[in-house]
Amino acid sequence: MRKAIVAGNWKMNGSGASVSSLVEEFVALRQNGLAGDCDLVDVVMCPPELFIGNVVAMSPAGISLSVGAQNASHELSGAFTGEVSPVMLAEIGCKYVILGHSERRALYAESDAIVASKFAAALKEGLLPILCVGETLQEREAGATIDVVERQLAAVVELCGIAAVAKCVVAYEPVWAIGTGLTASPEQAQDVHKSIRSWVAKQDAAIAAGLQIVYGGSVKSANAKALFACEDIDGGLIGGASLDAKEFAAICQAAGC
Ligand code: PGA
Repeated sequence: MRKAIVAGNWKMNGSGASVSSLVEEFVALRQNGLAGDCDLVDVVMCPPELFIGNVVAMSPAGISLSVGAQNASHELSGAFTGEVSPVMLAEIGCKYVILGHSERRALYAESDAIVASKFAAALKEGLLPILCVGETLQEREAGATIDVVERQLAAVVELCGIAAVAKCVVAYEPVWAIGTGLTASPEQAQDVHKSIRSWVAKQDAAIAAGLQIVYGGSVKSANAKALFACEDIDGGLIGGASLDAKEFAAICQAAGC
């Protein structure tokens, strides 16, 4: 059986003080069994890079709380002003890195090829990519959802090989559902998750069976349970709701049912 995973994408939010109180409150809930059983649900917090060290320092051993970055360079070191290397992220204690988020694809012109090269660099350093894929509203209305998602996955597989998929989490995030309050229905999300798993299965059935595929896009405690109950939905990538410890904990709890 696949273990569930819930990751919080804090985006560019927080301060030293708010990070401390959010992590402190969440850790207490997790220790009290109110944020998903540690045997059933992996939890990842992805703060802004400047606060990664704070969160690592505040994550006690034994409660299965991992830390991830929201982005990483496609290079390991050198003259890349303003970039952060996967080597540095691994050194500071990151286990995961979100790659190919739609905000980065749209606002920072990250092409499929760039995302694939970041994926390769992250793997080299032993980071586990959370690879985001998803269609815009226009693409959904044009019936192109599956084509878009497969194209985004194929770029990574072409560069890194299908075996690399065993070392990542795929996050299906329809762009039209991110931060909009519009959530894909469980049926809509399950359809795409199933297609993703089938696409991987055509290349390697064992990797497909073990692949954690999470849903992201306006997930809240109120809709998490119905989404996570779907056969091919193994958890969530949570934006806005991950900034509230109680709400995030309730979502983690829903993933462990
Ligand atoms: P949201 O963001 O939960 O605020 O819609 C999800 C994401 O961007 O990963």
